[in-house]
Amino acid sequence: MTLETIQEASQAIRNQFPDFHPTLGIILGTGLGHLASEVQVLGAIPYDQIPHFPLSTVESHSGKLLLGTLASQSVVCLQGRFHYYEGYSMQQVTFPVRVMHALGIRHLFVSNAAGGLNPAFRTSDLMIIDDHIALFLPESPLRGFNPPEFGPRFPDMSAPYDAVWIQQAKTILNDLGLPPHTGVYTSVQGPQLESKAEYRLLRQLGSDAVGMSTVPEVLVARQMGMRVFACSVITDLCIPETLKEAKLSEILAAAAKAEPHLSQLFKRLIEQMD
Ligand code: HPA
Repeated sequence: MTLETIQEASQAIRNQFPDFHPTLGIILGTGLGHLASEVQVLGAIPYDQIPHFPLSTVESHSGKLLLGTLASQSVVCLQGRFHYYEGYSMQQVTFPVRVMHALGIRHLFVSNAAGGLNPAFRTSDLMIIDDHIALFLPESPLRGFNPPEFGPRFPDMSAPYDAVWIQQAKTILNDLGLPPHTGVYTSVQGPQLESKAEYRLLRQLGSDAVGMSTVPEVLVARQMGMRVFACSVITDLCIPETLKEAKLSEILAAAAKAEPHLSQLFKRLIEQMD
């Protein structure tokens, strides 16, 4: 990844939609495809038409950039994200965030599917991410090449997730009659799910949820000074004593059940933006 590849990708998007000036980027993980249907779509660009963009390999992710309007904000949605377990480098995983920033986006919303480690959680609950653990990632996406345009060499992570948005999101969940969970999301490499011993370890370390995404993108967004909101859909319960065999179909079904809730939350948060 170089400044030129980021420029070429963002220029290709701009060339197609020269009068569109997005302010908010949204990464639609498993469980947030629904929100895309609420976007008044100006255009969709398949990833294979954007220079240097990686291609999604996971069937449950569709792989295109959606440009449009959502709750009166100009948004760019990443419909399908990239994961380290697919074989991409951390730089490839986070390339779209650099491109969003080059498009002028300074606000980032992220969603994911996650295993629940906090015993208070139920399947299909939402968890507002208020902190993260990046230590299990194979490497930082910020490692290596670091031109001044990327931001500081040693970016601060004392508060990666915007405190105002967290507070507003809790109020919205309450208003929707949903449990306003907040918690720590730990990002792991995958693709295998964790063993009981690993879930126990992650819980002891202070994790409330575990998943295979989000933190790399957030690290890059924060390095570039973007405001970040992130939310997990709890798709399976990872309590060692009662752990059942995980089935992808059940994980996807739990995500689908929570989709309308996540859409509501994102939409209402966006409506409150100035
Ligand atoms: N572990 C890691 N990632 C996940 C899980 C899990 O239990 N559930 C959904 N994504």
